[in-house]
Amino acid sequence: MTAVDARPRTTAESRFPRGFRWGTATAAYQIEGAAAEDGRTPSIWDTFSRAPGRVRNGDTGDIAADHYHRMNEDVALLKELGVTDYRFSVAWPRVQPTGRGPAVQRGLDFYRRLVDALLAAGIRPVATLYHWDLPQELEDAGGWPQRDTAGRFAEYARIVGEALGDRVATWITLNEPWCAAFLGYASGVHAPGRTDPVAALRAAHHFNLAHGLAVGALRAALPRKSEISLTLNLHAVRPLADTAADLDAVRRIDALGNRIFLDPVFHGRLPEDLIDDTAPLTDWSFVRDGDLETASAPIDSLGINYYSPTVVAAVSPGAPDVPLPGMTGMTGVSDAPDTPSPWPGTEGRVRFVPVPGPRTAMDWPVDADGLYELLTRLRDELPRTPLMVTENGAAYDDYADPSGAVHDPERVAYLRAHLAAVHRAIAEGTRVRGYFLWSLLDNFEWAYGYSKRFGIVHVDFATQRRTVKDSARWYAAVIGRGGLA
Ligand code: FCB
Repeated sequence: MTAVDARPRTTAESRFPRGFRWGTATAAYQIEGAAAEDGRTPSIWDTFSRAPGRVRNGDTGDIAADHYHRMNEDVALLKELGVTDYRFSVAWPRVQPTGRGPAVQRGLDFYRRLVDALLAAGIRPVATLYHWDLPQELEDAGGWPQRDTAGRFAEYARIVGEALGDRVATWITLNEPWCAAFLGYASGVHAPGRTDPVAALRAAHHFNLAHGLAVGALRAALPRKSEISLTLNLHAVRPLADTAADLDAVRRIDALGNRIFLDPVFHGRLPEDLIDDTAPLTDWSFVRDGDLETASAPIDSLGINYYSPTVVAAVSPGAPDVPLPGMTGMTGVSDAPDTPSPWPGTEGRVRFVPVPGPRTAMDWPVDADGLYELLTRLRDELPRTPLMVTENGAAYDDYADPSGAVHDPERVAYLRAHLAAVHRAIAEGTRVRGYFLWSLLDNFEWAYGYSKRFGIVHVDFATQRRTVKDSARWYAAVIGRGGLA
């Protein structure tokens, strides 16, 4: 781990390797709308967003960016941008409404049309199977803390793989299982909104198992040359000071935030220190023989989502313990002081320290070096695994001015710095194969509803009018020349 004062500086500017994949990313619940159309049933996010006080302004994904009805217009925008790849997610409750049984053809047809439109535009589709929209019936049966959900997921993966495997070459099983497990089941700021730390640890394990089972199901369903991946929001964790105590705080957060997924998936084991740290909460007896072997089925690449770094310090005896979930660089509500910690077992031991410097509209610090740190760490730890940045971007308070332009210079600066960090990592021998900007469109930003705009295309949610922001033009120019100026 790197200490704060030894952070590398990101300066390199130039071309990216030939064949680099330039993309944007979205997720089904955040853009599709059409929540009750063509057989779709509620997911945990429909239920959660309807519960009073869960999502800012009572917003829901009922209409979102109406992408379900405007898919062709949105693919035309992607073509105009010149992206080579587009990452979207498939809504489980659209394809297999109750989470069990046969597929709904009308649901699958939407994704067939999307994929065909992308291919016709010369854009490679990258499909994520789970971006947080668990069918509500499976949550009612126990959700991710319940083992059977992993088996259900593998069955759904098979259905989608068989339906789209002839057209989609790159597959991502899960998006950010850390958020889904710990924000969903421990801090409760995401659906399904439970606050049970042991349930969150069980969910994390079942995500690893679900991933491994889905890899097996996809390998059986897909053509041999297909690429199978997993997207993690790994934490670039730094100590406040280079002391043994602060380094131990880093170790704890690294175990709970990173190695809890990396070790099972890439090494077929659980971190010993994680088991020790969480021993007062659980004996991990929900991990059965063979699970870790299943979780470690070989994959072809690893996706990293990165927004901001995390700085931690040890809690000194007697000092107030102030967990700040919003300061950890992930989606979470930072202005609710009573929110339970999403970090089971760290209370009274670890303190999250605000990072100084510029911030986005999410109040997340802007620090591209964290991305460089993560990528080079993975180069060293997983030298044979190609990497992709499957999400990176920033929210700012954008608006269309009277002339219809959206000027977002802060987003351009953010993107430029982060692409320079990716370039620097590549120049130093890291195998980064692509970059997917979050996000194509302004959208439903989970617990923040429509109050946060991450798009490079502005959406007026009253009229659904799309307006290309300056950052989209800038990104198109970067793609056109194959790198930063
Ligand atoms: C990530 C999510 C994505 C989006 C960004 C801002 O955690 O994967 O859906 O909300 O944060």
